[in-house]
Amino acid sequence: MAHRNRPLIAGNWKMNGLRRDGVERARALAGRAAAASPPCDIVLCPPATLIAAVAGIVADGPIEIGGQDCHGAASGAHTGDLSAEMLADAGCRYVIVGHSERRADHGESDGEVRAKAEAAQRAGLSAIVCLGEDESQRDAGRALEVVGAQLAGSLPPEANAANTVVAYEPVWAIGSGRTASATDIAAVHAHLRGLLRARLGDDGGGVRLLYGGSVKPANAAEILAVAEVDGALVGGASLDADDFWAICQSCP
Ligand code: PGA
Repeated sequence: MAHRNRPLIAGNWKMNGLRRDGVERARALAGRAAAASPPCDIVLCPPATLIAAVAGIVADGPIEIGGQDCHGAASGAHTGDLSAEMLADAGCRYVIVGHSERRADHGESDGEVRAKAEAAQRAGLSAIVCLGEDESQRDAGRALEVVGAQLAGSLPPEANAANTVVAYEPVWAIGSGRTASATDIAAVHAHLRGLLRARLGDDGGGVRLLYGGSVKPANAAEILAVAEVDGALVGGASLDADDFWAICQSCP
């Protein structure tokens, strides 16, 4: 059997949850992870207001915490932003950068995403670098070209398997209930893996490649079994502890 990286399931809570919901969900997941050692690494990415509380709850178990974004600078006059160092200080080990909602809502370019990934490395965090084509790009047959260009532009020169995770999230599949087919996912992941190996050598094989976009308990096992899929970035279904745990349990 081909080598597989240990799977990583990341829950992106986005801008959802007040303290009571988040704490309850984190406690439920921490309890499950303590009772039965999970078949994957697990990262919860709560809104920044809940990072400290959730970090406290999962502190003694295997679940790690991630931020949803960071600024490229370590500190300074950037009202409303958070640095990677602040996230690390609050208990994070990961940070999502370049999510398509940030690329769309905040006009983040590949260059800015790369600066954020660099900031993550500087702070000792692993960056979960997101990329993915939109619907018109897929319809035009340009998906591989688009994700290849995003990968080239968004990964910092010092990227390696320890400090970088790549999440392929077709924009049209996020929050839509539509997932890419196993064949399409396999084609994109094989392409990204080839580019990572060309750029990083053997280490490119160890960079975990996640799929994201309407991953649910019902489709997780099929998606997670696809070659070169090393886990999932889960949005909507990560807001329900039972669903998220079922996805974690679906890892091969
Ligand atoms: P979704 O979100 O699972 O709700 O489609 C995925 C993501 O945006 O990371």
